[in-house]
Amino acid sequence: MKALVLSGGAGTRLRPITHTSAKQLVPVANKPVLFYGLESIAAAGITEVGMIVGDTAAEIEEAVGDGSAFGLEVTYIPQERPLGLAHAVLIAREFLADDDFVMYLGDNFIVGGIRDLVEGFRANRPDAQILLTHVPDPRSFGVAELDRAGQVIGLEEKPEHPKSDLALVGVYLFTPVIHEAVRAVKPSWRGELEITHAIQYLIDTRADVRSTVIQGYWKDTGNVDDMLEVNRTVLEGLERRIDGEVDDVSEAVGRVVVEQGARIVNSRIVGPAVIGSGTTVVDSYIGPFTSIAENCRITDSELEFSIVLRDSSLDGVGRIESSLIGRHAEVSPANGLPSAHRLVIGDHSKVQIRS
Ligand code: DAU
Repeated sequence: MKALVLSGGAGTRLRPITHTSAKQLVPVANKPVLFYGLESIAAAGITEVGMIVGDTAAEIEEAVGDGSAFGLEVTYIPQERPLGLAHAVLIAREFLADDDFVMYLGDNFIVGGIRDLVEGFRANRPDAQILLTHVPDPRSFGVAELDRAGQVIGLEEKPEHPKSDLALVGVYLFTPVIHEAVRAVKPSWRGELEITHAIQYLIDTRADVRSTVIQGYWKDTGNVDDMLEVNRTVLEGLERRIDGEVDDVSEAVGRVVVEQGARIVNSRIVGPAVIGSGTTVVDSYIGPFTSIAENCRITDSELEFSIVLRDSSLDGVGRIESSLIGRHAEVSPANGLPSAHRLVIGDHSKVQIRS
């Protein structure tokens, strides 16, 4: 069995924090979301991975390399434009040959991995297996309609009036019958060859399409609350590891990771929390469910239930909660008169000021 991982897509679709980079590299607990996918593919006993890449190919290749760090062999498959998930399968035909494969969307996060699913698929070998999850607003997903017996009878891509609250999760298991289906579909209203339509083709031609409803699913939709929540879920499983420096007057309580090259000075860290390499925390409090990426500087501040991306600084800003701070951001007090907030805020940002 092989894996086809989709890490393409164009910059225009990317959300606030990712508008300058690949959304598959958005960090969850200081690790790109794509890496969790690659780890679960490896844990499911798959080694051959085809990686679809687009505009952000250089960044993805720099992060993933030849895949050996994950125990994988990665073959890059360039896609000229994001022409759809079924298009990705079309262009991967040679790589996939006549093997079964799992298709994994690189911006999706599945708590608990995919090992059991892959094992179940290997044992039963239906023509296709899809994953579904209940979501509050299914309109930005593919949506499944099931009959009373739980059999999938219809799939719609981003319907205005969804027939259920069951969204298609970005992990699909296929036998080679999918190749005929992806050749049969026509571009949708959004100009893409939809995998949803290809699976509908399988259903219509009476292929064996099965579904499993899962819990614990996240994708980068640009919703900060969701991102903080998935970060929290992953940090729950953290194991304490102090590889950096924590000075004598500082305290690191509970499940705290201080990466090598990080420095904690006169500060209190209460886990679960992770402090990236090269980051310095001075005269500060870092509370639970906080991830601070590499090369940040936190001075004279308090931070809880938040994510700080790399190369950013917080200096003397009091207490910050439930926040997402992007890369190379600087937050500092505005001294002097007039007493005013001074802001330079990027596109699509959201700032709540307590005055
Ligand atoms: O995430 C689950 C959803 O993924 C499903 O519910 C939908 O049925 C499915 O169509 C897909 O919806 P999106 O429109 O949200 O997919 P998106 O364009 O975000 O692409 C998903 C991943 O695949 C992302 O990592 C980018 C990559 N991609 C996407 C396209 C369209 C490619 O590599 N090539 C492409 O042509």
